[in-house]
Amino acid sequence: MSSKNLTRKRSPHDFVFKQELGHGSYSTVYKVFDKHSVNHVYAIKVCSKAHIIKENKVKYVTIEKNTLNLLARACHPGIVRLYYTFHDEENLYFVLDYASGGELLQLLHKMGRFSESWSLHFSCQLIDTIEFIHSKGIIHRDLKPENVLLNRFGRLMITDFGTAATPLNQQKQEDDQNESPRCSSFVGTAEYVSPELLLSNQCDFASDIWALGCIIFQFIMGVPPFRGKNELQTFEKIASLDYLWNNQHYSSNKIDPVIIKLVQKILVLNPQERLTLTNMKKDEWFDKVDWNNKDHIWRGIWQ
Ligand code: ADE
Repeated sequence: MSSKNLTRKRSPHDFVFKQELGHGSYSTVYKVFDKHSVNHVYAIKVCSKAHIIKENKVKYVTIEKNTLNLLARACHPGIVRLYYTFHDEENLYFVLDYASGGELLQLLHKMGRFSESWSLHFSCQLIDTIEFIHSKGIIHRDLKPENVLLNRFGRLMITDFGTAATPLNQQKQEDDQNESPRCSSFVGTAEYVSPELLLSNQCDFASDIWALGCIIFQFIMGVPPFRGKNELQTFEKIASLDYLWNNQHYSSNKIDPVIIKLVQKILVLNPQERLTLTNMKKDEWFDKVDWNNKDHIWRGIWQ
């Protein structure tokens, strides 16, 4: 892109829109080519202004934009980067990294479950990214395999920060509701929702760690740990910690007991007793991981 183009406000006419990549409650994501730069491919998230206003989603779109802007400056490999935004009369547009490998959930469905070495490498990438997000004071609040994409090298990228909590909106909620500095409205997806959000309408950094525990279980087993016939049943299972590995004596001749123990230390009802990311990194499962060597985490088995 020339410097002249960079200073001009962009519009949808600057892009060739290709196939739809996915859609959320108020947005649709498309693969696009930038007309001004050869072979430059992005994902554009298109949010209908009328729909956002009608459905009262202005807050979520603002959160997503602020959070992605804050995270984009650091350029972490595990986060879908926001390049810029623009709008026209009808829509808001977010120009994002295109993750050509699609959703991690699709890959998991295709494979059935992941091997322990794939699970380990994917878990390392998620831990490194979540630690980074938390270091910026942000709670994602909707971590799940649909919100994790794969780039062309098979590396993971977390997306969809529409329900994130930043220090700013946490503060606002605190002012609004005179509550603790934690967020307190139901967001997220039933199967990955933390017990503290369900039972006391509170979520904190530990709620993302709960979701990570559910995701690690799902890597190994192919399905999330808590899944009822409907949302209510799923919630009941979460609140009573009713999942396959919740038994000190649970063992399987197919699964390394170290992984089972790790998940048992993450899926703990009391968020204060839940494993922290710092302690998780010291767990036996990650013994061979050099956390200070980003190349090791981000290239790993892919090289
Ligand atoms: N689906 C949703 N967001 C996407 C992105 N940024 N890249 C590829 N597929 C997506």
